[in-house]
Order: sequence, then C-alpha cells, then structure tokens
Amino acid sequence: MHLKNIRLQQFKNYKKEEVHFSEEINCFVGINGSGKTNLLDAIHYLCLTKSALNPIDNLNIKHEQNFFTVFGDFDLNGKEIEIRCLFESGKKKQVLKNGKAYDKMSEHIGLLPVVMIAPDDTSLIKDGSEERRKFFDNILCQLNRKYLENLIRYQHFLKQRNALIKQFAEKGRWNEELIEPYTREVIQLSKNIASTRQNFLQEYEPLLMEYYKIISGGQERISIQYESQCLQEDFEAAFRSNAQRDYLLRRSTMGIHKDDFVFQISEYPIKKFGSQGQQKSFIIALKLAQFMVFFKHLNTKPILLLDDIFDKLDDSRIEKLMKLVAEHEFGQLFITDARPERSQGILTRMDADCRFFFVNQGKIEGQPQ
Ligand SMILES: Nc1ncnc2c1ncn2[C@@H]1O[C@H](COP(=O)(O)OP(=O)(O)OP(=O)(O)O)[C@@H](O)[C@H]1O
Ligand SMILES: [Mg+2]
Repeated sequence: MHLKNIRLQQFKNYKKEEVHFSEEINCFVGINGSGKTNLLDAIHYLCLTKSALNPIDNLNIKHEQNFFTVFGDFDLNGKEIEIRCLFESGKKKQVLKNGKAYDKMSEHIGLLPVVMIAPDDTSLIKDGSEERRKFFDNILCQLNRKYLENLIRYQHFLKQRNALIKQFAEKGRWNEELIEPYTREVIQLSKNIASTRQNFLQEYEPLLMEYYKIISGGQERISIQYESQCLQEDFEAAFRSNAQRDYLLRRSTMGIHKDDFVFQISEYPIKKFGSQGQQKSFIIALKLAQFMVFFKHLNTKPILLLDDIFDKLDDSRIEKLMKLVAEHEFGQLFITDARPERSQGILTRMDADCRFFFVNQGKIEGQPQ
C-alpha cells in the first residue's frame, strides 16, 4: 500500500499544496515550525479520519479560515483509492472514498493502516491509563471490526448508565429496574472486550520483546501486565454489588474503562524505573510491533510516519532502525528532519528510492539543492 499524492487546503499552516510521493522513502526537511509534522499529520488524517495530534478539528483549520480539506490518492494492492476529508467549522466532518461519502467514520477504520513514531512522545508511558487504553483500542479497532463495534456500544451504554446514576443521585433514589438493561450490557461488553484485549496481547507481546531487543540491544526482560477486573470469575457479582459505590460516586466505577496496561522492564514498571533511553526504545518497539501485527493481519504494510527520529534518537538506535529500513522491513516511509544534510547523509546510503521535500512556512518544494 502507498500514498501517491496529497492535496491540502487550509490544513493547519498550509494554504494550498499538492505533493507527489515516492513509493519508498519521503523525507520532509525544513526549519522548526515550517510544517513538517503537520504534513505527517495530514497523512494520518487521510488514513484514520483524524489528526494524531489534535482531536479538535476546528484547531486544524488554518487560522482565520473556516474550513480545511485533505485529499489523497492511495494504491492499495493495485487498487486505486481516493480519500477526501472535508471539515467546515460548525458542520459535520465528511469523508469520501472514491466519491462516496461514508455514513459512519468507523467504516473507514482499518482500510489504510498507519503507524506514527514520535520517539520524544513518551506520554504513552508517563501519562495515565487512558493513553494506553487508547493506544491498544486504536490498534484493535483497525484490526477487528467487531471490536470497534463493541467498543462503540460500550461507550454508549456506559454513558447512558452514568447519566441514569446521576439522575438517581439527584432524585435520591436508585431504580434497579430502569438501570438493569444498561448494567447487563456494560457487564457483557466488558467481559468481551477484556478477553479480546488479553488474547491480543499474547500475539503482540512477543513482537514487542523482539523489537525492543533489536532497538535497545539490551538484554532486559520487558513485558506488559494487563490489569483488568473484568476477567475475574466473580466480575458480574462484583459489578452488581458495587452499585452502592456507583451511586455515591455518581458514575460506573467498574468496567473496561478502568483497565490498565502496565509496561514493565525486568518486572518493574518502566514508568517509574525506566531510564530515558529505555523509555524511548520501549516506545519505538511498541510502534514497530504495531506495524508488524497490522502487516500480518491486514496483508499490507502500513504507512510509517517517523517524526524527528534523527534528532531525538542516539546514533546507535538510528543505526538499528535504519538497518530495518535497509532490509526492506517497512513499506512506504515518511520522515521529518530539521537538518537536511543529516537526513541526506543517512538516507541516500539506502538502496531505496528516496525523495526529499523542502518545507518552508507551509510551502513545499521538491528536492533541496
Ligand atoms: N490551525 C493552524 N493554522 C495556522 N498555523 C498553524 C495551525 N496549527 C499549527 N500551525 C502552525 O504550524 C507550525 C508548526 O508546524 P509543524 O509542527 O509541522 O512544524 P515542524 O516543521 O514539524 O517543526 P519542528 O521542526 O519544530 O518539529 C507552527 O508555526 C504553528 O503555528
Ligand atoms: Mg515537527
């Protein structure tokens, strides 16, 4: 799979741009703030109908404008796919595939897999459990339509259940009959989603370990501890007997929205004990393992977006990552770098078609001189 071209209008700092890409390596160079990451984000948008950086679409519109569009042509195993994303302030976002609008954005998810690596972004490790749930949900939704549907249903029922609990608390009376259908759904879906998450980790974890070893060169044992109450045998009984607590706290206090994925290194949480280098290696390994599961399941190599890797990684990690590139482990690559001579030095050594783009204040030119 590869992206042949992209057409942007009023997306972030781009007024109107059209770029044609190499099937192999594309490198965006330019000074800080010129628009390199924004271009990666536009590609992410085409693949997943959302920005990797900003979930609020209004903020992705160029300042002082009221709409943006991102169009692109893909080649998916020989099939031409044109994607058009349009967003106008105050209106519903529209996504069209080959001229036909999707009824639901979720229909698009999983068609054009993409993986973004921004090694400096260790929020996945450092932040709360929500970030990690989002990461794994994102992967599972792209791989498994049923999972996506279940997750949407779960969010719906949880929201309804929470709204009812709030009402009960305001009125000072719990109504078991009214809440029961929601309770039942939240319990069932929790069990189902938790078991999919656990099964997925059995496949994902060995890949993560393998890539961690390649990238870090280290011998430490790493693992992911999936923490969920929903797989315990007495989960249903525990959930039901927790109603009093839900009532007091005015929300559902059990369910898969409470799960966590604890990243460990030598049996200790990497969040608390991992060095900066170990954390970076872990993030890269998480993403490369994501790349590999997509490849295995979706039969196409995802687009790989590498933001600022030359700047943020040390020489030994860059060398290991580039070895994977040289061995053609990946498909189409998009790389950003603020220093053209550095990326040219590294990438032109590769036996691959490499195209450079010079980004300057939201304008893109071809090969820099
Ligand atoms: N909605 C918007 N409208 C106009 N400009 C925007 C918008 N959102 C972001 N920008 C601008 O885009 C620029 C940042 O672009 P980007 O993050 O792509 O830079 P970069 O080239 O990746 O820089 P760095 O090398 O520092 O990572 C900033 O100047 C920012 O003000
Ligand atoms: Mg950037």
